[in-house]
Amino acid sequence: MGSSLKFSNFFLAIYLTTLFSTSIFSATTINGQTTIQPSDDTIPTTQTEKMTHLHFYFHDIVSGSKSTVKQIAGPTNVSDSMFGATVIADDALTEGPEPNSKIIGRAQGIYAVATQEELGLLMVMSYAFTGGEYNGSSLSILGRNQVNHPVREMPVVGGTGTFRFARGFALAKTVWYNTLGDAIVEYNVTVLHY
Ligand SMILES: *[C@@H]1O[C@H](CO)[C@@H](O)[C@H](O)[C@H]1NC(C)=O
Ligand SMILES: *[C@@H]1O[C@H](CO)[C@@H](O)[C@H](O)[C@H]1NC(C)=O
Ligand SMILES: *[C@@H]1O[C@H](CO)[C@@H](O)[C@H](O)[C@H]1NC(C)=O
Repeated sequence: MGSSLKFSNFFLAIYLTTLFSTSIFSATTINGQTTIQPSDDTIPTTQTEKMTHLHFYFHDIVSGSKSTVKQIAGPTNVSDSMFGATVIADDALTEGPEPNSKIIGRAQGIYAVATQEELGLLMVMSYAFTGGEYNGSSLSILGRNQVNHPVREMPVVGGTGTFRFARGFALAKTVWYNTLGDAIVEYNVTVLHY
């Protein structure tokens, strides 16, 4: 029993090695550096990771006719606990903090009040860039956002386009807000990608 299992693992390993080396990758070693050549453009052509820093402002407008969010679930009466309140957002990302600053992308996704005490959000958002060198690329941010803290850190868990295989972190700081709940948030994002 034990040895036949070992044999089948052995054959599976051979099979997988063959599969990967023939149809997905061919590896070449030049000057001790291994470069993996993919058979199509969906896989990075080298193993060199780049680090990119991004700086932009996030405009979350909850009030008025130009609102960029819509509540889709949970309590609506702010006198009660807002635990469970869930919002879908399509927030502008801009170069500078001014409301009319140049738009470089949009943060699209869901955030929800995930705390029963101190106000904290679960952010599940795509940061899609529509201008400049990252046009067409996006980052996925998934994490905890305690909005009353001066600086919050959220993980970057993936990306597309320039940011394929991304991982990293975002630092977010509210630079302006009003009593209606509108806010402008400064982001510094550090991301590793191919
Ligand atoms: C909101 O909640 C408060 C406190 O629970 C209550 O007095 C008030 O009537 C509620 N308002 C609405 C519009 O339901
Ligand atoms: C971004 O890319 C799209 C699609 O390729 C293109 O239509 C658009 O003009 C580009 N925007 C900028 C600002 O370069
Ligand atoms: C972003 O980086 C700039 C420049 O280093 C700094 O002045 C700013 O406070 C940072 N903001 C956040 C939210 O990390």
